[in-house]
Amino acid sequence: MEKKTRLEHEDGRLQQHVVLLIAVVLGFVIMDPFHMSPVGGHDFKPVRNDIAPYDEVMASWPDDNLSRLGSGNLEHVDQVFGPESLEFDPLGNGPYSGLADGRIVKWSGEDRGWETFALVSQKWSEKLCATGKDSTTYKQWKNEEVCGRPLGLRFDKASGNLYIADAYHGLMVVGPDGGLARPLTTEIDGKPILFANDLDIHSNGSIYFTDTSMKYNRVNHFFIMLEGEATGRLLRYDPPTKSTHVVLDGLAFPNGVQISKDQSFLLFTETTNCRLMKLWIEGEKKGNVELVANLPGFPDNIRINEKGQFWVAIDCCRTKAQEVLINNPWMRSVYFRLPFRMQDLARAMGMKMYSVISLFDDKGQILDVLDDKQGIVMKLVSEVREAKGMLWIGTVAHNHIATLPYP
Ligand SMILES: *[C@@H]1O[C@H](CO)[C@@H](O)[C@H](O)[C@H]1NC(C)=O
Ligand SMILES: *[C@@H]1O[C@H](CO)[C@@H](O)[C@H](O)[C@H]1NC(C)=O
Repeated sequence: MEKKTRLEHEDGRLQQHVVLLIAVVLGFVIMDPFHMSPVGGHDFKPVRNDIAPYDEVMASWPDDNLSRLGSGNLEHVDQVFGPESLEFDPLGNGPYSGLADGRIVKWSGEDRGWETFALVSQKWSEKLCATGKDSTTYKQWKNEEVCGRPLGLRFDKASGNLYIADAYHGLMVVGPDGGLARPLTTEIDGKPILFANDLDIHSNGSIYFTDTSMKYNRVNHFFIMLEGEATGRLLRYDPPTKSTHVVLDGLAFPNGVQISKDQSFLLFTETTNCRLMKLWIEGEKKGNVELVANLPGFPDNIRINEKGQFWVAIDCCRTKAQEVLINNPWMRSVYFRLPFRMQDLARAMGMKMYSVISLFDDKGQILDVLDDKQGIVMKLVSEVREAKGMLWIGTVAHNHIATLPYP
């Protein structure tokens, strides 16, 4: 036993030396004088983040041996571009979705198809923004701020107003007939809300929403994860006083938010830390934050079903190699300064794209897991909505909506 431990120790020391040598050889790369690496031109400072060990999480995560998500249907292919959030109005019409070209569109049936319902920016123009399939690629990046990027959507059942978390224009609202959305809050304590991402409406009218980072905006969202920075916040907007409050700060890529059926707590995802969290907003535990579940990948939105259970969309997945980088910020500093494209660097870490969706009850127990391990049908899922006997699945980077009969 003793000996084995010592050998392992020496082995570890050797590895350390090799790694150090590589680090020195790549020293120049860190300087990245020609801004050739993915992080070129950014103040990229990786830090440790609070993520559960890979083996522990994967060992207890249930497998969907049937890969049921792989049997989903892709619909409206190349008609909707990056439909992140899917929402139905109080009359059950829709779905509505916010697209990468900046529009919020509504499905008006086979005859009329997809119609533009609302815009988030006065400066939106068809020429500049309506670039179709290109809007989910880097070609849109330079115009995204002008065109807008509506992410989270929620209808207020009483008023029929649609509330929108737009990545660039903050928290917004538009009436039941659509049109140009109006900003409700775009700054807090004099500083702009940099990256509004998702929202939910409390029964008392207050709106909880996430501001994913104070450092990077949506176009640069990959850096939030690579760096492990935790400047994200959960905010609350109170309509009677038109005031915005910081509910939680220091979060690592806060993303989806969903209030419980009884309004006593809300769930939110921390994408960088691959976990689902709970904040109590009523009762004895009010203000307490708890871990609900560690996830096998990077979670996005959370949506409640009629039974008060929670669907979480997860992009996969974590890998062993990536864990080494997560635990060693200095390695990330070197690795992501290598003059290769981000997608090649990610592939080299064994990261492949597939999707998992998971249903949780109000105690945080896993009720169901569906996945598509080959990533054939569904990639980069952003939201799962259970409605009309189906799951409606959005994606932030692909040009379709996926559906699956459920249960
Ligand atoms: C899925 O496969 C694993 C490993 O082969 C097995 O342990 C597990 O029971 C299976 N789950 C179901 C639901 O069949
Ligand atoms: C709604 O409830 C939350 C949670 O208790 C509270 O913080 C907020 O101030 C309330 N909003 C209004 C408008 O009363």
